[in-house]
Amino acid sequence: MTMSCLRFRFLLVLCCVFASSFLMIKALVVGHADCRPDQIQALLQFKNEFESRACNQTDYFNGVRCDNATGAVTKLQLPSSCFTGTLKPNSILFGFHHLGYLNLSHNNFTSSSLPSGLSNLNRLQVLSLSSNGFIGQVPSSFSILTKLAKLDLSHNELTGGFQLVQNLTKLSILDLSYNQFSGSIPSTLLMMPFLSSLDLRGNHLTGPIEVSNTSSSRLEHLFLGHNHFDGKILEPISKLTTLKDLVLSFINVSDPIDLKLFSSLKSLLNLELSGNIISATSISSDPDVPPKLNRLMMKNCNISEFPKFLKTLQNLERLELSNNRIKGKVPEWLWSLPRLSIVSLSNNSFNGFDGSAQVLGNSSVTMLDFSLNAFTGPLHAPPLSIRLFLASSNSFTGDIPLSTCKRSSLEALDLSYNNLSGSIPQCLSKLKIVNLRRNNLQGSIPDTFYSNSLLQTLDVGYNQISGKLPRSLVNCSFLRFLSVEHNNIKDVFPFWLKVLPDLQVLTLHSNTFYGPLGFPELRILDISENNFTGRLSPDYFVNWSVSSNKMYGDGKMYMGDYTDTLYSYFYALDLKYKGLLLEYEKVNTFYVAIDFSANRLSGQIPESIGLLTTLIALNLSNNSFTGQIPMSFANVTQLESLDLSCNKLSGYIPQELGSLSFLAYINVSHNQLMGEIPKGTQISGQPKSSFEGNAGLCGLPLHETCSDTSAPPTQRQKQEDDQEEKEVMNWKGVAIGYWPGVLFGLPIGHIVALYKPEWLFKIIGRPDRGRNR
Ligand SMILES: *[C@@H]1O[C@H](CO)[C@@H](O)[C@H](O)[C@H]1NC(C)=O
Ligand SMILES: *[C@@H]1O[C@H](CO)[C@@H](O)[C@H](O)[C@H]1NC(C)=O
Ligand SMILES: *[C@@H]1O[C@H](CO)[C@@H](O)[C@H](O)[C@H]1NC(C)=O
Ligand SMILES: *[C@@H]1O[C@H](CO)[C@@H](O)[C@H](O)[C@H]1NC(C)=O
Ligand SMILES: *[C@@H]1O[C@H](CO)[C@@H](O)[C@H](O)[C@H]1NC(C)=O
Ligand SMILES: *[C@@H]1O[C@H](CO)[C@@H](O)[C@H](O)[C@H]1NC(C)=O
Ligand SMILES: *[C@@H]1O[C@H](CO)[C@@H](O)[C@H](O)[C@H]1NC(C)=O
Ligand SMILES: *[C@@H]1O[C@H](CO)[C@@H](O)[C@H](O)[C@H]1NC(C)=O
Ligand SMILES: *[C@@H]1O[C@H](CO)[C@@H](O)[C@H](O)[C@H]1NC(C)=O
Ligand SMILES: *[C@@H]1O[C@H](CO)[C@@H](O)[C@H](O)[C@H]1NC(C)=O
Ligand SMILES: *[C@@H]1O[C@H](CO)[C@@H](O)[C@H](O)[C@H]1NC(C)=O
Ligand SMILES: *[C@@H]1O[C@H](CO)[C@@H](O)[C@H](O)[C@H]1NC(C)=O
Repeated sequence: MTMSCLRFRFLLVLCCVFASSFLMIKALVVGHADCRPDQIQALLQFKNEFESRACNQTDYFNGVRCDNATGAVTKLQLPSSCFTGTLKPNSILFGFHHLGYLNLSHNNFTSSSLPSGLSNLNRLQVLSLSSNGFIGQVPSSFSILTKLAKLDLSHNELTGGFQLVQNLTKLSILDLSYNQFSGSIPSTLLMMPFLSSLDLRGNHLTGPIEVSNTSSSRLEHLFLGHNHFDGKILEPISKLTTLKDLVLSFINVSDPIDLKLFSSLKSLLNLELSGNIISATSISSDPDVPPKLNRLMMKNCNISEFPKFLKTLQNLERLELSNNRIKGKVPEWLWSLPRLSIVSLSNNSFNGFDGSAQVLGNSSVTMLDFSLNAFTGPLHAPPLSIRLFLASSNSFTGDIPLSTCKRSSLEALDLSYNNLSGSIPQCLSKLKIVNLRRNNLQGSIPDTFYSNSLLQTLDVGYNQISGKLPRSLVNCSFLRFLSVEHNNIKDVFPFWLKVLPDLQVLTLHSNTFYGPLGFPELRILDISENNFTGRLSPDYFVNWSVSSNKMYGDGKMYMGDYTDTLYSYFYALDLKYKGLLLEYEKVNTFYVAIDFSANRLSGQIPESIGLLTTLIALNLSNNSFTGQIPMSFANVTQLESLDLSCNKLSGYIPQELGSLSFLAYINVSHNQLMGEIPKGTQISGQPKSSFEGNAGLCGLPLHETCSDTSAPPTQRQKQEDDQEEKEVMNWKGVAIGYWPGVLFGLPIGHIVALYKPEWLFKIIGRPDRGRNR
């Protein structure tokens, strides 16, 4: 049958049956001239077994291949969140007997078990069902799929053992990672004749492994990290001499790991041992290590001495030694390893670099992280090809080296939390991330931002910077985060920043800004402790609310990020708490926080505040606001912290405030309020001091009960524990902190900035790191 004839027939069938779907027909004809009509119908039927509104018709049929002689479906490549529902035992899918390739990864077969019908597809060579939510055991009928060369069941909830896959003797790639498999690894699995890649990470596997005769093993890539191996698995693994790639991070073996065990693995290129204790003697005894290693990950390994054996690794490209206890100087020879490119030494106790400063400058390193150490003295010139240079939380003094500006590849510079002085470099425009927070830098921010500037994040907070905000910042159209807090900048409100489409966070806190306030549409605006004056117009918050739901693609807001196939660095803004902080990668809602405290603002609080439905923290304290507290606060249902203290507000507190169920903190003290305090558990649980110093408030938590007439003003008790309360509740002078720590390799590294009212810090019990060292 000729192609054109087939094509004609499909058109005919489809026009009759699905005349409405022009797009679909077009897609079919273009991509799938080889498919028989009954197969096409079956495909549509298959799609209809699921909730598939999210499916892109074009993509669906682009993923189909049919045999050009028989017209039977031979390949289905249908990944990515298209189907939701149960993959039923009688699914029409199991009728596609000619399938050789089936990829249904990243769909949503919620809580179905793997149907045994899959075993009908016994011509399958490639099967991927990863990331779907499949539960239960792998059906024993899977052992019929003996043609499989590649099987990927990763990222499901599969349980039990996986003995049966041993019968799939043609397998060359087996990925069962991130499931709930338990038991030990059958030794025969490691010896399967064609198996070259085995990924069992993230299960509940226990040891031991028995390997008697490994001469038949072809394993090159073995990933066993994040399991609970309690037995001796290392000695057997050391016999797998074909290995190139060995991942044993976080395997929880009981005894410290002796590096000598790996000396037999002469072909090894990548060794990951992070999260395991490495025996101290094995580090100091200079063991033979696989000579070709180009990647060595030993993070969180309780290492206390710089591993001298690294000197022999002339192919080493990536070295991860962060979160150890290494003291003393970084040896000079490290920087002459010819291929060294990515190095993390962060969170150790290094106090200097051996040898001349130039050696580091001449090295081939492109990404270098030595933050959270004990380095002192002048900062070294970064290597010539540096892209990412992270030296935060040390005690470097002196100027930022001039050479920093000569490094044309530099993209991210983090020198925060040091004692650097002198002026800010002139070359910020070409960088993406600049973090110079908490140093002693002086002078003004150079007015040298040119158009097409790449800058996303600029933090120069807590220095001694003076002058004005450089107007050329308007050229930074990628700017998301700008902090100049706690400096001596004297300027008017930067109205001109309003043109920056991505700007989300602006903190001008504690400077000498003056004049009227602008109305940028930001998520976080902190202008507290300045000298702003004037009134806020009633519609001040109107435009603001429009943009307050802007989100980035992954549902998370980054203040700055840097991503590379090898390395990621970002700090994310995260206003969530209540235990979610540690899971910040999952945070998917954003809030607005506003701090206008300690200025000289006057007039009424704009009624339009009620439009800011994602507002969680508002501080207007220590101003001269007058009039009543707007009723519209009732609509700010996410509000958790409200401070209106020390103003000239009068009238009654709206009863609706009592219904704000997340309100953990309210302070309206020192105003001219009167009448009954709203009833509600959130409010009556507040300390008395939150309502003190008003003209005539009555009701809980004050002692005064409200009489029918007006509440008589009485003498109020001073709150006993003023100090503690201030610490817990006041979120004036919000702190931004950084949590440095960069991971290497595929798991994404991150630097998280915590931006939280202090009382939130208290709740979480994890204060700003890096500063209190
Ligand atoms: C469907 O996918 C195709 C190709 O991937 C793309 O060009 C098209 O825009 C998508 N259509 C929709 C509605 O997403
Ligand atoms: C079928 O496809 C193969 C390769 O994919 C090609 O060599 C062959 O010529 C095709 N046959 C027809 C009838 O189009
Ligand atoms: C998966 O399906 C469930 C309902 O069956 C739904 O609640 C959930 O949002 C879906 N997940 C994705 C990622 O589509
Ligand atoms: C299945 O499709 C996903 C998404 O396109 C792809 O990443 C994955 O490599 C495919 N799996 C196989 C086994 O081909
Ligand atoms: C694997 O194959 C062997 C013989 O080839 C058979 O005895 C055994 O039952 C099979 N295992 C499973 C789980 O099917
Ligand atoms: C190991 O297996 C190979 C072939 O797989 C065989 O030739 C060799 O004799 C075996 N060695 C031992 C010690 O059993
Ligand atoms: C890790 O090993 C220790 C004993 O060495 C054991 O008590 C602990 O439960 C193990 N942790 C996990 C997560 O299995
Ligand atoms: C870490 O190493 C030190 C000695 O260097 C040892 O005293 C300590 O017990 C080790 N910690 C663990 C968790 O093994
Ligand atoms: C630093 O490393 C230690 C282990 O040596 C770890 O407990 C701690 O959490 C790390 N600190 C940071 C900020 O990563
Ligand atoms: C660094 O490189 C320059 C130019 O290649 C060379 O002159 C200098 O000696 C090198 N310095 C060191 C310490 O190797
Ligand atoms: C605030 O501005 C007024 C004039 O508008 C000035 O007198 C006062 O000194 C300023 N305060 C500060 C702290 O700069
Ligand atoms: C709260 O919002 C609703 C609807 O969005 C509106 O009708 C109502 O007037 C608002 N209440 C106040 C007090 O602003």
